Amino acid sequence: MRILHVASEIFPLVKTGGLADVLGSLPPALARRGLDVRVLLPGLPGVLDGITELRPVMRIGPVFGAAAVTLCLGRLPDSKLPAYVLDAPFLFRRDGNPYTGPDGHDWSDNHRRFGLLGWAAAHLAAGELDPDWAPDVVHAHDWHAGLAPAYIVQNPGLKVTTVFTIHNLAFRGIFPMECHYDLGLPMRKLTPHGIEFHGKISFMKAGLVYSDKITTVSPNYAREICTPEFGCGLDGVMRDRGADLSGILNGVDYAVWNPGDAKIAKPYSIDNLAGKKACKRALQLEFGLSTEARGPLFAVVSRLTSQKGMDILLAALPELLREGAQLIVLGSGDGDLEAGFRYAASVNPDNVAVYIGYDESMSHRFMAGADILLVPSRFEPCGLTQLYALRYGTLPLVRRVGGLADTVVDVNDENLAADRATGFVFEDAARHALGARIHDACEFYRYGGAAWTKVQQRAMRQDFSWDDSAAHYEQLYRSL
Ligand code: ADP
Ligand code: GLC
Repeated sequence: MRILHVASEIFPLVKTGGLADVLGSLPPALARRGLDVRVLLPGLPGVLDGITELRPVMRIGPVFGAAAVTLCLGRLPDSKLPAYVLDAPFLFRRDGNPYTGPDGHDWSDNHRRFGLLGWAAAHLAAGELDPDWAPDVVHAHDWHAGLAPAYIVQNPGLKVTTVFTIHNLAFRGIFPMECHYDLGLPMRKLTPHGIEFHGKISFMKAGLVYSDKITTVSPNYAREICTPEFGCGLDGVMRDRGADLSGILNGVDYAVWNPGDAKIAKPYSIDNLAGKKACKRALQLEFGLSTEARGPLFAVVSRLTSQKGMDILLAALPELLREGAQLIVLGSGDGDLEAGFRYAASVNPDNVAVYIGYDESMSHRFMAGADILLVPSRFEPCGLTQLYALRYGTLPLVRRVGGLADTVVDVNDENLAADRATGFVFEDAARHALGARIHDACEFYRYGGAAWTKVQQRAMRQDFSWDDSAAHYEQLYRSL
């Protein structure tokens, strides 16, 4: 069975978030199950630099405003899986963020850039671009690849089936209606039953309406997006397609994320946690934090946005400091949140530290060195950092929402007695609720003694490897 994954980012070549981690590890997990898997990526600088053995397969164009587009084929650096790359210098060879320009605004031609991605997937599926390979299933990820199913259904003779995965419904890929002239989609698709969304067009909606099956990245988020609270205006579409919608939990690449990690100060294991203490001390020293604090070290590794509840955390910070605890933050995002964390660090230099920016190897040091990882999200389709934290024996403190609710078992009397607890869970997206759970976590840290270590070890034993999830995706492909 031949599967083509279509996406805008992939670890370790281009990454702005969890989507890249998923693309870096799901296709290889499917290949290990014996499927013939390839990926299709835009020719962003990181992709062109990182793919090996890249050679041209087909010269296309001019299309989508680009004079020259060449479909190339190479191999992913780690897994060696075949990767198609759309080399369109005018559209993709731009430094910085894949979606936004240096001014922080979306590139003004994003509809063409990602329209081309979906269009190329459809033509590859039709066997028109590579005489040697065409997929049976096109698996498109998020709005960036949302037009792939829409272009595929335009060709009724085409026997390819499509799966569309929602990684984050909040990013709907919305463009002015006039953009459709650049996309070559027929007028009949521009209705509320098609890709029209409140007088505009939505690439996300295209993926939802025209794909054969829809998945999202946790069972709980699959339920949530059918409600107005989490549906981002697309909950009606989600309910209409309910029979074709399912949630398949993301996995973790434990070869990259594990406490034997070469990126951390001192590797450790489930049977010998001594190295974890050394990692904590090294992290405190790296950031000039006191090594004498009486409370635990909380960490954040996240986009600093309202989705991630970072404003709630800033509001609850006094509670955390009252407990004698410490906070380190690695992230970037909204200017006011960045400023808020910077200010907090400047007035509490012994107990709060912040690194504004993106640093992959620092994120490993945070995972290993912290006692508790905070993920107080307003919504969270799956969330990967809590899964990474578990493996490092760093207890996640999360809001009961989306994939966080599916993956963290609360430390309460019942779960402790049943040997199930792996972290701390709170309900309301509000300062007092988070503050109260931070207080409880600090108490458990201080007085839990052996119980804390037991929860840590249970956390480290959790298995969120890709094997199970890849099996679910395979089942879904075969059901088509
Ligand atoms: P999302 O995709 O919504 O941002 P996830 O939890 O699924 O959330 O994935 C986030 C990914 O990005 C994780 O691999 C996390 O470690 C990484 N990450 C987030 N912010 C940073 C940062 N500032 N530096 C390094 N890695 C980061
Ligand atoms: C999105 C979501 C996140 C999820 C990731 C990978 O970025 O916000 O919850 O883990 O995609 O699926």
